[in-house]
Amino acid sequence: MAISDPSKRLEAMPPYKFQELERTIAEKREAGIDVISLGIGDPDEPTYPHVVSAMQEAVADPGNQKYSSNRGRAEFRQAFADFYDRRFGVEINAESEVIPAIGAKECIYNLCFAFLDPGGVALASDPGYPVYTGGPILAGATAELLPLAPELGFAPDLSSVPADVAAQARLMFLNYPNNPTGAIVPEGFFEMVVSFAREHEILVVHDNAYSETTYDGYVAPSFLATPGAKEVGVEVFSLSKGFNMTGWRCAAILGNAEAVQTYWRLKTNVDSGLFEAVQMAGVAALQGPAGPLQRMNETYARRRDLVVNTLREIGVEVSAPKGTIYVWAPVPEGHTSTSFAELVLEEAAVVISPGSMYGPSGEGFFRISLTTPDDRISEAVERMRKYLA
Ligand SMILES: Cc1ncc(COP(=O)(O)O)c(C=O)c1O
Repeated sequence: MAISDPSKRLEAMPPYKFQELERTIAEKREAGIDVISLGIGDPDEPTYPHVVSAMQEAVADPGNQKYSSNRGRAEFRQAFADFYDRRFGVEINAESEVIPAIGAKECIYNLCFAFLDPGGVALASDPGYPVYTGGPILAGATAELLPLAPELGFAPDLSSVPADVAAQARLMFLNYPNNPTGAIVPEGFFEMVVSFAREHEILVVHDNAYSETTYDGYVAPSFLATPGAKEVGVEVFSLSKGFNMTGWRCAAILGNAEAVQTYWRLKTNVDSGLFEAVQMAGVAALQGPAGPLQRMNETYARRRDLVVNTLREIGVEVSAPKGTIYVWAPVPEGHTSTSFAELVLEEAAVVISPGSMYGPSGEGFFRISLTTPDDRISEAVERMRKYLA
């Protein structure tokens, strides 16, 4: 065995799927080709000014420069409780039902270590955010996939989960508005989730990364607003996408007090809390005016329409998402997700994400992210029209 050999757990992880793509993009750019990436979901606009100002003030305060407690500052927990009350009509006890997370990704990964034993089982939406499967694997457990059925509005059919899988499962990862499909939660689905989780004693982890990014008057609910949800679940709320704060690593876990406590216990062994200045910036974001968010959503809606209209003109049957920063569309006949993404890159120098990157049920689809300035999105879809029509 060589000193650099990875552990068996790391070895069990699927290969980093972007590697080949990144190399091709770099080669093209070196050759002077103007590659436009619609791959990654990282907001292109800056963090809102009132949040930056709050951070500037907080970072200069020596009181914020020490180790922070994993329980989080009282102001941060209270700001989340107030936000959940105002925005979702959900009552959160600021003492026991919310603590900070260093981004949703950290939280989801650590939840796997807090709740899964080696050989254990988590249920993961497919297609889904990759940590729903990677986290369980790294924890020595298994991720059983819950295929999101297009005919069910991209919800999983919970009645088709085999009895032995449901009996073994301890966690279930769900996410609406959904990455990568852009779907919103179908009417009545969260209620079904609560009764399924009750019946099988599963902790539901609802990853609420996109509730503030919605269109056409749609207002996304919190899973915790579902009757009984707090008895069986937690919600991870990230400020990354809605507040243009991906680099800040600011999120929280809310809901079932015992589960939040178990996550906290794990974290006391792993990290030393969310930088308090970032927590104060998070408070400013949660308490801030709604205007910047509304303007961002208008921007994304404009880009969404541009993408959807052009795709329809070139014969792609796509529906306009009511939430998230993604358009999810079927690949044309005769292509796989990967062969179509390669064709678009070769012919139009545009990067799109093959749906299969998000799990086997993503095969047959591609994803376009709306986090590129209007003129570049416009140029990208015009190129697609020119080369693919
Ligand atoms: C569904 C979902 N959850 C979580 C994240 C990551 O959130 P964070 O930046 O808070 O780690 C993403 C980012 O793409 C996402 O799409």
